Amino acid sequence: MLLLILLNFHQQKHDQQKACKRGYFLIKGKYMKVFLTGANGLLGHKLALYLLEKGDIELMATGRGPSRIATEKKFSYKDIDLTHAEVLQDTLIHFQPDVVIHTAAMTQADECELNPEACWAINTLAVENLGIMAGKLNAFFIHLSTDFVFDGFSGPYRENDLPNPVSKYGNSKLASEKAATLCLSGWAIVRTVLVYGVVPNMSRNNLVLWVKDSLEKGIPIKVVSDQWRTPTLVDDLAEACWLIANKRAHGLWHISGEEILSPYQMALKTAEFFGLNSQLIEKVDASTFSQPAKRPQKTGFIIDKARTLLGYKPHSFEEGLKELNRQLIQYKTIPVPGSGETP
Ligand SMILES: NC(=O)c1ccc[n+]([C@@H]2O[C@H](COP(=O)([O-])OP(=O)(O)OC[C@H]3O[C@@H](n4cnc5c(N)ncnc54)[C@H](OP(=O)(O)O)[C@@H]3O)[C@@H](O)[C@H]2O)c1
Repeated sequence: MLLLILLNFHQQKHDQQKACKRGYFLIKGKYMKVFLTGANGLLGHKLALYLLEKGDIELMATGRGPSRIATEKKFSYKDIDLTHAEVLQDTLIHFQPDVVIHTAAMTQADECELNPEACWAINTLAVENLGIMAGKLNAFFIHLSTDFVFDGFSGPYRENDLPNPVSKYGNSKLASEKAATLCLSGWAIVRTVLVYGVVPNMSRNNLVLWVKDSLEKGIPIKVVSDQWRTPTLVDDLAEACWLIANKRAHGLWHISGEEILSPYQMALKTAEFFGLNSQLIEKVDASTFSQPAKRPQKTGFIIDKARTLLGYKPHSFEEGLKELNRQLIQYKTIPVPGSGETP
């Protein structure tokens, strides 16, 4: 017992010395330096706001172009193209993170199919660089991946199911998972599924916002009914990343909602929730669209591992819509930087 107390004391002392050396003092013993990529994206922006609310965190956020992060809280921001390894390395060495959370990626499957080299450079090679650098700095590396690593023939999937991507995007992300494991100081791979939600100053659409916006304008839409996913509220995903960072939860994690829905079912639920005209939604098969990238038919995740080991509790889709609506109202009152509009 005495030995344990002494070891604990020694560890705290060591952490304190490390923090002091970096010019910081431990606040409540939980101080953490987080290096976040993709901070102008949906998850990255949400995570930046979420982490800053947590308090004992020093955040270095990176994105392409000027910051769109809407907060009064203090954080550092750097405009970095992550395919430029040297700039990335200098910034990381200067910052000395405890945790690196990597959300940036080329996320549109069709864009990846049409630009395979650029896709590989950001989605795979940049992950390899970042993971190795994080390892050298003794930081825990959290890397975001996707349900598109599966072929969609036998979803929903568990962590130990065999991946078999059917697109360049899926391939690049599966290779990125292998690259992430090169981080020698500990890593977590967080796969997720069809993310929806809202941040201030949104730069990109997602299914729920697109349906809501189209129906509000009276625009008819065609929505696929023969694909299935477990849609994920971005706030749940941010919370899961935080749980993983806090526990340094090494390994592969499936993080999503729990209900298996087709995009068509999601669209109907969205119309119903917002009191919009569902007659404008046309039910179609995936074969209606000729898209460059193949999509897996049925993915979705079984999230028992995250529930049990992380205490992860996602919103239901209905609750997710309620939360999104609450935030839409809240964000209208926040002055945001940049020129984007809150959808
Ligand atoms: N959204 C989903 O439905 C979904 C589903 C499964 C998995 N995921 C994974 O979850 C993660 C987060 O997704 P998200 O929805 O937040 O994506 P997102 O909104 O598309 O954000 C991705 C961010 O990465 C940035 N980026 C792209 N190339 C870059 C480069 N060369 N250098 C620096 N930054 C670069 C983009 O910058 P710009 O703003 O300048 O374009 C964008 O801000 C990704 O790894 C994605 O693969 C997402």
